[in-house]
Amino acid sequence: MQSVTLDADGVRAAVSMREAIDAVRRGFVDLAAGEFEMPTRTVMRDGQFLVMNAHHRATSTAIIKTLSVNFDRTPAIAGTVVWAETGRTDTLIADAGAVTTLRTGAAVGVATDLLAPADAGRLTLIGAGGQAADQVRAVHAVRPLRELTVVNTDPRRAAALLETLAPELDGVRTRTAADPEAAVADADIVCCATPATSPLFTAAALPARVHVNAIGAFRPTMRELPDELLADSAVFIDEREAILQESGEILHALKAGALAEHDLTELGTALTAADVPRGSRTVFKSVGVAMQDWAVARLLAEKFLGDRLP
Ligand SMILES: NC(=O)c1ccc[n+]([C@@H]2O[C@H](COP(=O)([O-])OP(=O)(O)OC[C@H]3O[C@@H](n4cnc5c(N)ncnc54)[C@H](O)[C@@H]3O)[C@@H](O)[C@H]2O)c1
Repeated sequence: MQSVTLDADGVRAAVSMREAIDAVRRGFVDLAAGEFEMPTRTVMRDGQFLVMNAHHRATSTAIIKTLSVNFDRTPAIAGTVVWAETGRTDTLIADAGAVTTLRTGAAVGVATDLLAPADAGRLTLIGAGGQAADQVRAVHAVRPLRELTVVNTDPRRAAALLETLAPELDGVRTRTAADPEAAVADADIVCCATPATSPLFTAAALPARVHVNAIGAFRPTMRELPDELLADSAVFIDEREAILQESGEILHALKAGALAEHDLTELGTALTAADVPRGSRTVFKSVGVAMQDWAVARLLAEKFLGDRLP
């Protein structure tokens, strides 16, 4: 029996963002096809402890992820992803912080690839914490960036992020900005990755043509996007049940009458649709689901356990 344990560096060295995007894209398609058994996650201490699991029927494989979340700590997210198979006893345990940032970025990469204009090259990122670098990497992988603007309440974190990413952003014009309203005004793509509890900008601040990804809010009390933007956009989500339970901005917009449930399209459905009605503004709202963790863990199992899964 093999037993593999991977720390954050081990996970990152094994999986590139492009691989993660392809794996998560396949996962979203399988999710829409009903290939996953995926209970809504267990949330304890108002979001400070999470347990997530997903079983992929076709491969008889599963993951369980445990997380502790604390925004007064760096990194805010810590825990483990455990891989399990019915066919063998080998085990793999991976650092959940690294898996989470990769798979959260990868979902944004899938959505941006599907929804952003083909010539989109100007990204504004709001929130320069643990998730931020992989948000940028994912967008850059599908829409090579020409300009990157980073906004963070503490500007030193925005500057530090740009310094970290500099070797990967050759030729990209980068800057930090203090005012999110002004920073989104000329963006083609906006990424929101904060624990905010009220909208980060007004709908009026955005250009007429824009794609917005929002991954920060994962509790009903959290919210990054204004109702007016959701009312005025084609809205895509990671998974309906999870969104209706956890996404503060979607719940707020539904309650205000700015959105109806039938306005929400799951990303996996959109990926397989012949035609995706978009309009000029699109939003991808993700609270994060265990399928994404499974998709990255599957890549790790293939590499470290020699799995050849169908
Ligand atoms: N959807 C998902 O799958 C998913 C996955 C992981 C994390 N998350 C969530 O994403 C959010 C960010 O996670 P993280 O690990 O990067 O957290 P973090 O604490 O490391 O970073 C958050 C950053 O946002 C900044 N910030 C907070 N409010 C802001 C505001 N109003 N304007 C600008 N900047 C602001 C903070 O200064 C900090 O630098 C959290 O809420 C986390 O729970 C979601």
